[in-house]
Amino acid sequence: LIAKAFRQQFIIPDFSSFVKDIEEIYCRCKTNTLGKIADYIPQLTRYCPESWGVSICTVDGQRFSIGDVEEPFTLQSCSKPLTYAIALEKLGPKVVHSYVGQEPSGRNFNELVLDQNKKPHNPMINAGAILTCSLMNALVKPDMTSAEIFDYTMSWFKRLSGGEYIGFNNAVFLSEREAADRNYALGFYMRENKCFPKRTNLKEVMDYYFQCCAMETNCEAMSVIAASMANGGICPTTEEKVFRPEVIRDVLSIMHSCGTYDYSGQFAFKVGLPAKSGVSGGMMLVIPNVMGIFAWSPPLDDLGNTVRGVQFCEELVNMFNFHRY
Ligand code: DON
Repeated sequence: LIAKAFRQQFIIPDFSSFVKDIEEIYCRCKTNTLGKIADYIPQLTRYCPESWGVSICTVDGQRFSIGDVEEPFTLQSCSKPLTYAIALEKLGPKVVHSYVGQEPSGRNFNELVLDQNKKPHNPMINAGAILTCSLMNALVKPDMTSAEIFDYTMSWFKRLSGGEYIGFNNAVFLSEREAADRNYALGFYMRENKCFPKRTNLKEVMDYYFQCCAMETNCEAMSVIAASMANGGICPTTEEKVFRPEVIRDVLSIMHSCGTYDYSGQFAFKVGLPAKSGVSGGMMLVIPNVMGIFAWSPPLDDLGNTVRGVQFCEELVNMFNFHRY
Protein backbone atom coordinates (compact mmCIF):
# COMPACT_ATOMS: atom_id res chain seq x y z
CA LEU A 1 0.00 0.00 0.00
CA ILE A 2 2.75 2.44 0.96
CA ALA A 3 4.78 1.68 -2.19
CA LYS A 4 1.67 2.26 -4.30
CA ALA A 5 1.05 5.52 -2.51
CA PHE A 6 4.56 6.77 -3.30
CA ARG A 7 4.19 5.79 -6.93
CA GLN A 8 0.69 7.30 -7.01
CA GLN A 9 -0.66 4.08 -8.43
CA PHE A 10 -3.95 3.96 -6.59
CA ILE A 11 -7.12 3.12 -8.44
CA ILE A 12 -8.52 6.44 -7.18
CA PRO A 13 -5.39 8.59 -7.35
CA ASP A 14 -6.90 11.70 -5.77
CA PHE A 15 -8.77 9.98 -2.98
CA SER A 16 -9.16 13.09 -0.83
CA SER A 17 -10.98 15.02 -3.53
CA PHE A 18 -13.13 11.95 -4.31
CA VAL A 19 -14.04 11.75 -0.65
CA LYS A 20 -15.12 15.41 -0.57
CA ASP A 21 -17.66 14.68 -3.30
CA ILE A 22 -18.85 11.61 -1.40
CA GLU A 23 -19.35 13.76 1.68
CA GLU A 24 -21.50 16.11 -0.35
CA ILE A 25 -23.72 13.30 -1.61
CA TYR A 26 -23.90 11.87 1.91
CA CYS A 27 -25.15 15.20 3.28
CA ARG A 28 -27.76 15.60 0.56
CA CYS A 29 -29.11 12.09 1.26
CA LYS A 30 -29.17 12.82 4.99
CA THR A 31 -31.87 15.44 4.48
CA ASN A 32 -34.11 12.89 2.77
CA THR A 33 -36.61 11.80 5.43
CA LEU A 34 -38.84 9.64 3.24
CA GLY A 35 -39.39 5.93 3.82
CA LYS A 36 -40.59 3.65 6.56
CA ILE A 37 -38.65 1.29 8.82
CA ALA A 38 -39.43 -2.43 8.40
CA ASP A 39 -41.89 -3.54 11.06
CA TYR A 40 -42.53 -7.24 10.49
CA ILE A 41 -40.53 -7.98 13.64
CA PRO A 42 -40.24 -5.64 16.67
CA GLN A 43 -36.42 -5.74 16.74
CA LEU A 44 -36.19 -3.91 13.41
CA THR A 45 -38.64 -1.14 14.38
CA ARG A 46 -36.27 -0.01 17.14
CA TYR A 47 -33.76 1.45 14.72
CA CYS A 48 -33.50 5.20 14.54
CA PRO A 49 -34.78 6.60 11.23
CA GLU A 50 -31.97 9.15 11.29
CA SER A 51 -29.25 6.48 11.20
CA TRP A 52 -27.19 6.91 8.06
CA GLY A 53 -23.74 5.61 7.26
CA VAL A 54 -21.60 5.05 4.19
CA SER A 55 -18.30 3.15 4.03
CA ILE A 56 -16.01 2.74 1.07
CA CYS A 57 -13.13 0.37 0.50
CA THR A 58 -11.20 0.40 -2.77
CA VAL A 59 -9.67 -2.70 -4.33
CA ASP A 60 -6.29 -1.40 -3.22
CA GLY A 61 -7.45 -0.90 0.34
CA GLN A 62 -8.10 2.85 0.59
CA ARG A 63 -10.90 3.42 3.10
CA PHE A 64 -13.40 6.13 3.85
CA SER A 65 -16.37 6.17 6.21
CA ILE A 66 -18.92 8.77 7.17
CA GLY A 67 -21.88 8.70 9.58
CA ASP A 68 -23.15 5.74 11.59
CA VAL A 69 -20.68 3.25 10.21
CA GLU A 70 -20.04 1.28 13.38
CA GLU A 71 -23.70 0.79 14.35
CA PRO A 72 -24.56 -2.89 14.19
CA PHE A 73 -27.44 -4.11 12.04
CA THR A 74 -28.44 -7.53 10.71
CA LEU A 75 -27.43 -8.69 7.26
CA GLN A 76 -30.91 -9.82 6.19
CA SER A 77 -31.01 -10.22 2.43
CA CYS A 78 -27.47 -8.92 2.01
CA SER A 79 -26.49 -12.43 3.16
CA LYS A 80 -28.09 -13.94 0.04
CA PRO A 81 -25.25 -13.21 -2.41
CA LEU A 82 -22.76 -14.48 0.17
CA THR A 83 -24.33 -17.90 0.78
CA TYR A 84 -24.87 -18.17 -2.97
CA ALA A 85 -21.14 -17.50 -3.46
CA ILE A 86 -20.16 -20.26 -1.02
CA ALA A 87 -22.47 -22.72 -2.80
CA LEU A 88 -20.96 -21.75 -6.18
CA GLU A 89 -17.43 -22.02 -4.88
CA LYS A 90 -18.05 -25.49 -3.49
CA LEU A 91 -20.46 -26.98 -6.04
CA GLY A 92 -19.93 -24.98 -9.24
CA PRO A 93 -22.64 -23.18 -11.26
CA LYS A 94 -23.92 -26.30 -13.04
CA VAL A 95 -25.00 -28.03 -9.86
CA VAL A 96 -26.26 -24.86 -8.15
CA HIS A 97 -28.30 -23.81 -11.18
CA SER A 98 -29.81 -27.23 -11.62
CA TYR A 99 -31.77 -26.23 -8.48
CA VAL A 100 -32.24 -22.46 -8.82
CA GLY A 101 -32.76 -20.19 -11.85
CA GLN A 102 -31.14 -16.97 -13.03
CA GLU A 103 -34.17 -14.92 -14.04
CA PRO A 104 -35.69 -11.96 -12.22
CA SER A 105 -39.04 -13.15 -10.90
CA GLY A 106 -40.92 -9.94 -11.62
CA ARG A 107 -42.79 -10.66 -8.40
CA ASN A 108 -42.38 -9.81 -4.73
CA PHE A 109 -39.24 -11.18 -3.05
CA ASN A 110 -41.31 -13.49 -0.85
CA GLU A 111 -43.95 -14.55 -3.33
CA LEU A 112 -45.13 -18.14 -3.43
CA VAL A 113 -44.09 -18.82 -7.00
CA LEU A 114 -41.67 -21.03 -8.96
CA ASP A 115 -40.50 -20.73 -12.58
CA GLN A 116 -41.71 -23.00 -15.41
CA ASN A 117 -39.06 -25.59 -14.47
CA LYS A 118 -40.37 -25.69 -10.90
CA LYS A 119 -37.27 -23.94 -9.59
CA PRO A 120 -37.12 -20.73 -7.59
CA HIS A 121 -36.40 -17.88 -10.01
CA ASN A 122 -33.02 -16.77 -8.64
CA PRO A 123 -30.88 -16.91 -5.45
CA MET A 124 -31.66 -13.29 -4.42
CA ILE A 125 -35.33 -13.84 -3.57
CA ASN A 126 -36.41 -15.70 -0.45
CA ALA A 127 -37.34 -18.98 -2.17
CA GLY A 128 -33.99 -19.04 -4.01
CA ALA A 129 -32.04 -18.19 -0.88
CA ILE A 130 -33.81 -20.92 1.13
CA LEU A 131 -32.92 -23.29 -1.70
CA THR A 132 -29.27 -22.17 -1.54
CA CYS A 133 -29.32 -22.86 2.18
CA SER A 134 -30.56 -26.40 1.44
CA LEU A 135 -27.60 -26.92 -0.91
CA MET A 136 -25.22 -25.94 1.86
CA ASN A 137 -27.03 -28.23 4.24
CA ALA A 138 -27.38 -31.30 2.00
CA LEU A 139 -24.53 -31.03 -0.51
CA VAL A 140 -21.73 -28.69 0.55
CA LYS A 141 -21.40 -29.95 4.12
CA PRO A 142 -23.66 -32.98 4.55
CA ASP A 143 -21.58 -34.29 7.45
CA MET A 144 -21.75 -31.14 9.49
CA THR A 145 -24.19 -30.48 12.30
CA SER A 146 -26.21 -27.26 12.07
CA ALA A 147 -23.89 -25.68 14.63
CA GLU A 148 -20.89 -26.51 12.47
CA ILE A 149 -22.54 -25.15 9.31
CA PHE A 150 -23.28 -21.92 11.16
CA ASP A 151 -19.60 -21.58 12.18
CA TYR A 152 -18.47 -22.57 8.71
CA THR A 153 -20.66 -19.89 7.07
CA MET A 154 -19.58 -17.27 9.53
CA SER A 155 -15.94 -18.04 8.86
CA TRP A 156 -16.49 -17.36 5.12
CA PHE A 157 -18.21 -14.05 5.87
CA LYS A 158 -15.38 -13.10 8.23
CA ARG A 159 -12.68 -13.93 5.71
CA LEU A 160 -14.48 -11.85 3.11
CA SER A 161 -14.60 -8.92 5.54
CA GLY A 162 -10.90 -9.23 6.34
CA GLY A 163 -11.73 -10.17 9.93
CA GLU A 164 -13.93 -7.14 10.62
CA TYR A 165 -17.15 -7.30 12.60
CA ILE A 166 -19.45 -10.21 11.79
CA GLY A 167 -21.61 -11.25 14.72
CA PHE A 168 -25.03 -12.73 15.36
CA ASN A 169 -28.20 -11.18 16.75
CA ASN A 170 -30.10 -13.91 18.56
CA ALA A 171 -33.19 -11.78 19.26
CA VAL A 172 -33.55 -11.06 15.54
CA PHE A 173 -33.05 -14.75 14.76
CA LEU A 174 -35.73 -15.84 17.23
CA SER A 175 -38.27 -13.29 16.11
CA GLU A 176 -37.57 -13.89 12.40
CA ARG A 177 -38.36 -17.53 13.07
CA GLU A 178 -41.55 -16.60 14.95
CA ALA A 179 -42.77 -14.33 12.15
CA ALA A 180 -41.90 -16.66 9.32
CA ASP A 181 -45.23 -18.06 8.11
CA ARG A 182 -44.52 -16.96 4.56
CA ASN A 183 -40.98 -18.37 4.56
CA TYR A 184 -42.23 -21.70 5.93
CA ALA A 185 -44.93 -21.69 3.26
CA LEU A 186 -42.18 -21.20 0.65
CA GLY A 187 -40.23 -24.08 2.16
CA PHE A 188 -43.20 -26.46 2.12
CA TYR A 189 -44.21 -25.35 -1.35
CA MET A 190 -40.71 -26.11 -2.63
CA ARG A 191 -40.65 -29.44 -0.85
CA GLU A 192 -44.00 -30.35 -2.42
CA ASN A 193 -42.49 -29.52 -5.81
CA LYS A 194 -39.35 -31.56 -5.11
CA CYS A 195 -37.06 -28.55 -5.41
CA PHE A 196 -34.64 -29.59 -2.67
CA PRO A 197 -31.79 -32.08 -2.90
CA LYS A 198 -32.31 -35.49 -1.33
CA ARG A 199 -31.59 -35.67 2.41
CA THR A 200 -32.79 -32.10 2.96
CA ASN A 201 -33.88 -31.47 6.51
CA LEU A 202 -36.31 -28.60 5.98
CA LYS A 203 -36.42 -27.53 9.61
CA GLU A 204 -32.63 -27.21 9.72
CA VAL A 205 -32.60 -25.42 6.38
CA MET A 206 -35.15 -22.85 7.56
CA ASP A 207 -33.21 -22.22 10.77
CA TYR A 208 -30.05 -21.80 8.78
CA TYR A 209 -31.77 -19.28 6.48
CA PHE A 210 -32.98 -17.24 9.51
CA GLN A 211 -29.49 -17.43 11.03
CA CYS A 212 -27.93 -16.01 7.87
CA CYS A 213 -30.46 -13.14 7.92
CA ALA A 214 -29.70 -12.51 11.61
CA MET A 215 -25.93 -12.27 11.27
CA GLU A 216 -24.87 -8.87 12.45
CA THR A 217 -22.36 -6.49 10.95
CA ASN A 218 -21.73 -2.81 10.27
CA CYS A 219 -21.01 -0.53 7.29
CA GLU A 220 -17.23 -0.72 7.71
CA ALA A 221 -17.11 -4.52 7.60
CA MET A 222 -19.61 -4.70 4.75
CA SER A 223 -17.62 -2.25 2.64
CA VAL A 224 -14.68 -4.67 2.82
CA ILE A 225 -16.98 -7.53 1.78
CA ALA A 226 -18.21 -5.43 -1.17
CA ALA A 227 -14.59 -4.59 -2.01
CA SER A 228 -13.62 -8.28 -1.96
CA MET A 229 -16.36 -8.80 -4.55
CA ALA A 230 -15.11 -5.82 -6.56
CA ASN A 231 -11.66 -7.37 -6.38
CA GLY A 232 -12.56 -10.73 -7.95
CA GLY A 233 -12.84 -12.53 -4.61
CA ILE A 234 -9.56 -11.36 -3.04
CA CYS A 235 -9.97 -9.43 0.19
CA PRO A 236 -8.19 -6.09 -0.30
CA THR A 237 -7.23 -5.66 3.35
CA THR A 238 -5.75 -9.13 3.95
CA GLU A 239 -5.00 -10.12 0.33
CA GLU A 240 -6.57 -13.50 1.04
CA LYS A 241 -8.08 -15.20 -2.00
CA VAL A 242 -11.52 -16.07 -0.66
CA PHE A 243 -13.50 -16.86 -3.81
CA ARG A 244 -12.50 -17.74 -7.35
CA PRO A 245 -13.11 -14.90 -9.86
CA GLU A 246 -15.64 -17.04 -11.79
CA VAL A 247 -17.75 -17.28 -8.65
CA ILE A 248 -17.73 -13.53 -8.19
CA ARG A 249 -18.63 -13.00 -11.85
CA ASP A 250 -21.72 -15.19 -11.39
CA VAL A 251 -22.73 -13.54 -8.13
CA LEU A 252 -22.37 -10.02 -9.54
CA SER A 253 -24.35 -10.92 -12.67
CA ILE A 254 -27.30 -12.03 -10.56
CA MET A 255 -26.97 -9.03 -8.25
CA HIS A 256 -27.05 -6.80 -11.31
CA SER A 257 -30.36 -8.22 -12.55
CA CYS A 258 -32.04 -9.21 -9.27
CA GLY A 259 -30.36 -7.41 -6.33
CA THR A 260 -32.81 -4.64 -5.44
CA TYR A 261 -36.20 -6.37 -5.38
CA ASP A 262 -38.70 -5.01 -7.89
CA TYR A 263 -36.50 -2.00 -8.48
CA SER A 264 -33.79 -4.18 -10.02
CA GLY A 265 -34.60 -3.22 -13.63
CA GLN A 266 -34.62 0.49 -12.90
CA PHE A 267 -31.54 0.20 -10.70
CA ALA A 268 -29.66 -1.63 -13.47
CA PHE A 269 -30.77 1.08 -15.89
CA LYS A 270 -29.95 4.10 -13.75
CA VAL A 271 -26.97 2.90 -11.71
CA GLY A 272 -25.70 0.09 -13.93
CA LEU A 273 -23.85 -1.69 -11.12
CA PRO A 274 -24.40 -4.89 -9.12
CA ALA A 275 -25.99 -4.27 -5.74
CA LYS A 276 -27.91 -6.04 -3.00
CA SER A 277 -30.29 -4.51 -0.53
CA GLY A 278 -31.85 -5.89 2.64
CA VAL A 279 -34.81 -5.03 4.91
CA SER A 280 -32.62 -3.73 7.71
CA GLY A 281 -31.69 -0.84 5.41
CA GLY A 282 -28.44 -2.05 3.92
CA MET A 283 -27.30 -1.49 0.34
CA MET A 284 -24.16 -3.21 -0.90
CA LEU A 285 -22.81 -1.69 -4.11
CA VAL A 286 -19.96 -3.20 -6.10
CA ILE A 287 -17.94 -1.24 -8.64
CA PRO A 288 -15.94 -4.05 -10.26
CA ASN A 289 -12.17 -3.52 -10.20
CA VAL A 290 -12.60 -0.21 -8.38
CA MET A 291 -14.29 -0.35 -4.97
CA GLY A 292 -16.98 -1.71 -2.71
CA ILE A 293 -19.47 0.59 -1.01
CA PHE A 294 -21.91 -0.12 1.76
CA ALA A 295 -24.68 2.32 2.64
CA TRP A 296 -27.01 1.79 5.58
CA SER A 297 -30.12 3.64 6.65
CA PRO A 298 -33.25 1.89 7.98
CA PRO A 299 -36.13 3.78 6.28
CA LEU A 300 -37.27 1.79 3.23
CA ASP A 301 -39.23 2.80 0.14
CA ASP A 302 -42.38 0.97 -1.02
CA LEU A 303 -40.29 -1.68 -2.77
CA GLY A 304 -38.21 -2.43 0.34
CA ASN A 305 -34.97 -0.63 -0.58
CA THR A 306 -33.24 1.83 1.72
CA VAL A 307 -34.33 5.31 0.57
CA ARG A 308 -31.05 7.05 1.33
CA GLY A 309 -29.04 4.11 -0.02
CA VAL A 310 -30.80 4.21 -3.40
CA GLN A 311 -30.44 7.99 -3.61
CA PHE A 312 -26.75 7.67 -2.77
CA CYS A 313 -26.13 5.12 -5.54
CA GLU A 314 -28.00 7.19 -8.12
CA GLU A 315 -26.21 10.42 -7.21
CA LEU A 316 -22.84 8.66 -7.15
CA VAL A 317 -23.27 7.49 -10.73
CA ASN A 318 -24.49 10.92 -11.83
CA MET A 319 -21.35 12.47 -10.38
CA PHE A 320 -18.83 9.79 -11.41
CA ASN A 321 -19.23 7.67 -14.48
CA PHE A 322 -19.23 4.29 -12.76
CA HIS A 323 -22.22 3.02 -14.78
CA ARG A 324 -21.06 -0.10 -16.65
CA TYR A 325 -22.41 0.96 -20.01
O1 DON B 1 -36.98 -13.61 4.95
C1 DON B 1 -37.28 -12.52 5.37
O2 DON B 1 -38.42 -12.12 5.37
C2 DON B 1 -36.21 -11.59 5.85
N1 DON B 1 -35.54 -12.01 7.00
C3 DON B 1 -35.27 -11.36 4.70
C4 DON B 1 -35.41 -10.06 4.42
C5 DON B 1 -34.93 -9.40 3.25
O3 DON B 1 -34.06 -8.57 3.42
C6 DON B 1 -35.76 -9.63 2.03
N2 DON B 1 -35.05 -9.94 0.87
N3 DON B 1 -35.09 -10.40 -0.17
